[in-house]
Amino acid sequence: MKDNQVNIGILGLGTVGTGVARILLEQKELLRTRSGLTFNLTAISELDWNRDRGLDLTGVHCTTQADEVLNDPNIDIVVETIGGYEPAYTFISRALQNKKHVVTANKALIATRGRELFKLAEENGVDLLFEASVGGGIPIIKGLREGLVANRINSIYGILNGTSNFILSRMHQDELEFDQALKEAQAKGFAEADPTLDISGGDAAHKLTILATLASSAFVDYHQLSVEGITNITKLDITFAKSFGYTIKLLAIYRALENGLDLRVHPTLVPNSHLLAAVNNELNAVFVNGDFVGNTMFYGPGAGERPTASAIVSDIVDLSRNLDQHLTNRAVHLDRAAATVPLTEITNRFYLRFFTLDAPGILSKISGILGEHNISIASMVQLETHEQDHYVPIVLLTHEASEQAMAEALDKIGKLDFVRDNYLRLRLF
Ligand SMILES: NC(=O)c1ccc[n+]([C@@H]2O[C@H](COP(=O)([O-])OP(=O)(O)OC[C@H]3O[C@@H](n4cnc5c(N)ncnc54)[C@H](OP(=O)(O)O)[C@@H]3O)[C@@H](O)[C@H]2O)c1
Repeated sequence: MKDNQVNIGILGLGTVGTGVARILLEQKELLRTRSGLTFNLTAISELDWNRDRGLDLTGVHCTTQADEVLNDPNIDIVVETIGGYEPAYTFISRALQNKKHVVTANKALIATRGRELFKLAEENGVDLLFEASVGGGIPIIKGLREGLVANRINSIYGILNGTSNFILSRMHQDELEFDQALKEAQAKGFAEADPTLDISGGDAAHKLTILATLASSAFVDYHQLSVEGITNITKLDITFAKSFGYTIKLLAIYRALENGLDLRVHPTLVPNSHLLAAVNNELNAVFVNGDFVGNTMFYGPGAGERPTASAIVSDIVDLSRNLDQHLTNRAVHLDRAAATVPLTEITNRFYLRFFTLDAPGILSKISGILGEHNISIASMVQLETHEQDHYVPIVLLTHEASEQAMAEALDKIGKLDFVRDNYLRLRLF
């Protein structure tokens, strides 16, 4: 950086990259007033220059060759908004090796290959920042790293995937089936043509990996998480959850237990009285408990051009403030691996839904198996309505029980010949 001028190169002018360019061009004066620095959008590498993005790029070097950004000695900060694993990984590595700071929104890459990239950043004395990778426009990374730095983080409960939250919200609001709600999400641009990563819980797991690494100050591997998506939830489950006073949400859960971290992503029955139950549609929220602060909640838009770009530019300004002082923003601790507690050692309250033949003695058989595994029933509903094939739904809420015991009991119940094998087990908040 020379004369308080910070030169920025963008890789990938898609949804997020366009937003970053727009802020750098439209908010230049505001950013100068607030930071005392001038941010220059110097170069952009993008494959498709035919799309009209409504940007005036006069004076910006526009290329299809990433190397022209990565090797430009005048560029201080590279913004990676291509997404995916390759060539994003190679480009970020090259930028760091060329002693350029990097800002990215790429949660998949940070969650799976972050350790190598942070190491490379450290070796080269530069920063790799990633505010936009979790919660879009919500400043949750800075919230954990700065605002809550004095706290041990006891727990985090996050609604981190806008697509899943939109689908579940629509299922609750209009009693839609999963497929109908997914189609609506796609029509409104809240779900990709291939929504697998979102509805399988994978995207929320990437984000939880990042939050868990920051919250625990130890490196969390993506594969340490237990992950379940929302595809098995039906309109019927939503109706039952409502009747018990709950809303089903896909939660990303972090709990610091005595013997390690409990890290899970799964659909959860959240009591309607909890703030998280009111987080609807595509919005995200992160509910954090710190040992000194107590409960806090971060809430807002988790995606989209403008919110995500807002987060990226906050990283650009943040690290630029350090540039002339030769400080780095060491975000992540690479030297310690986090210990996790296996799911089988966790206890939860459960929601169980079975379809069984409507015959005498069935309930006592199911409750008998649960009882053999020390699982006690808190409440139960059996619907009178028959499906065409004579199976009726039964729903049980249990008291606290071990995951291991529940898995064993469900294995036995699922094998009973009067129980259909499409049973569902959800956890309660
Ligand atoms: N969209 C969101 O709301 C959001 C929110 C949070 C985080 N993110 C993250 O932000 C990143 C970008 O997402 P996005 O939605 O902006 O994606 P996007 O709209 O698909 O944009 C990616 C852009 O990169 C371009 N590109 C592909 N390969 C390239 C290469 N080799 N060199 C230069 N440009 C290349 C693409 O061009 P073509 O179209 O021609 O291939 C496209 O314009 C992802 O990591 C995503 O997870 C997105």
